[in-house]
Amino acid sequence: MFRGKGNCTACHIGPTLTDESLHNTGVAWRDSRLTGRGAFKTPTLREVARTAPYMHDGSLATLEDVIGFYDGGGRPNPNLDREIRPLRLTDAEKRALEAFLQSLSGTVSF
Ligand code: HEC
Repeated sequence: MFRGKGNCTACHIGPTLTDESLHNTGVAWRDSRLTGRGAFKTPTLREVARTAPYMHDGSLATLEDVIGFYDGGGRPNPNLDREIRPLRLTDAEKRALEAFLQSLSGTVSF
């Protein structure tokens, strides 16, 4: 779900799950204008279940909210990244995606 239908790896890729690049997902689109630069660096998703609230402005409270945001195609605006589009995930697919995000936390033991 993360790599396929969700298309999350278009930006969240590699060991730290970030391409280290700037993207406009529409989080900064408010009242028909972009606040600030509009584009933000893709954050790592390591330990993401422990770092709520989400996005640069903390506008999304839970991982469920984040998945809902992406499922709806972000917040459409003139500079929306072309990798952000409505996903039309089923409830089961949303739960699978959230379970994957939950699994990115924890300690590594050798
Ligand atoms: C076009 C690139 C792009 C795609 C595709 C993308 N993301 Fe993101 N993601 C970002 C950027 C950029 C941010 C930070 C936005 C901000 O801070 O306003 C972000 C933020 C997040 C956050 C919040 C992290 C935090 O610590 O605040 C989560 C969780 C997340 N993305 C999960 C996903 C999932 C799950 C998918 C697939 C359904 C996905 N992303 C697809 C670029 C992308």
